[in-house]
Amino acid sequence: MASFFRSSIGKKFIQAVSGAFLVIFLLLHGTINFFSVIDSFKGTWGNVDPDKLMSAGDGVFAAGCDFMSTAVITIMVPVLALGILVHIIYGIYLSYLNYEARGGVKRYEVASRARTDSWSSKNMLVLGIVILGIIFFHLTHFWAHMQLMEFTGREAENPYMLLEKTFSSWWVLAIYIIWFCAIFLHLTHGFWSMFQTIGWDNQIWMKRLKVIGVVVAALIWLCFTTVAVNAFLHAQGILPSVL
Ligand code: HEM
Repeated sequence: MASFFRSSIGKKFIQAVSGAFLVIFLLLHGTINFFSVIDSFKGTWGNVDPDKLMSAGDGVFAAGCDFMSTAVITIMVPVLALGILVHIIYGIYLSYLNYEARGGVKRYEVASRARTDSWSSKNMLVLGIVILGIIFFHLTHFWAHMQLMEFTGREAENPYMLLEKTFSSWWVLAIYIIWFCAIFLHLTHGFWSMFQTIGWDNQIWMKRLKVIGVVVAALIWLCFTTVAVNAFLHAQGILPSVL
């Protein structure tokens, strides 16, 4: 067992499993955020009862946030943090092994596969660093005003207000959209690479998985971008604002 995790496929396996877990998180997180767009259509944007979890008058997004604050889900927070940490540490380690294998600083003197690799596959580490950096920026906008408040015995702030406050300036919107693009590129490579690592690498399936990977990454991009642009429109007063 220990030798499996020391082998190069074993290390990639850890990267693939932690990556799959993070894709599931993104799909869940994106879906709950998308509830805010449904609220805009239903006319329930801003409806939140701070005193009661999942009150009948709540907007769908407020109900989703309440669901995320239940004990079953809260218990997943350290697991999520661990998943992110493992993925980062192994990502850096794998990039280092790759760099060494290609001849370290002398890598340009070696005829490498580089020309046939996609831009994303060569830049997974850089994309990962950009994504991680912006996660910290993002946590100060929402998590610090919601879950952290609850953890410290205070009341979470109104999530619609946080959406509007965060996306009220165009440059924050721009940084978030750059972030979503980095995630898109990271996922287009990461998705099929994950399956290749677990041995699902026959020619026909690889082609299909590359297409499925682009579709999943595009859906995630579209979902988050729609949420951010919709919140921007509310903050600008083009749609009803709660600010
Ligand atoms: C429009 C885009 C996004 C919005 C509006 C949004 C909104 C939120 C909200 C409201 C929370 C706080 C949940 C709570 O404390 O109960 C949160 C937490 C968090 N978000 Fe996002 N998010 C977005 C995109 C992303 C993306 C793209 C990632 C990952 C790359 C991400 C990673 C996280 C993490 C790690 C947490 C802390 C864990 C958690 O509370 O679930 N978010 N976000």
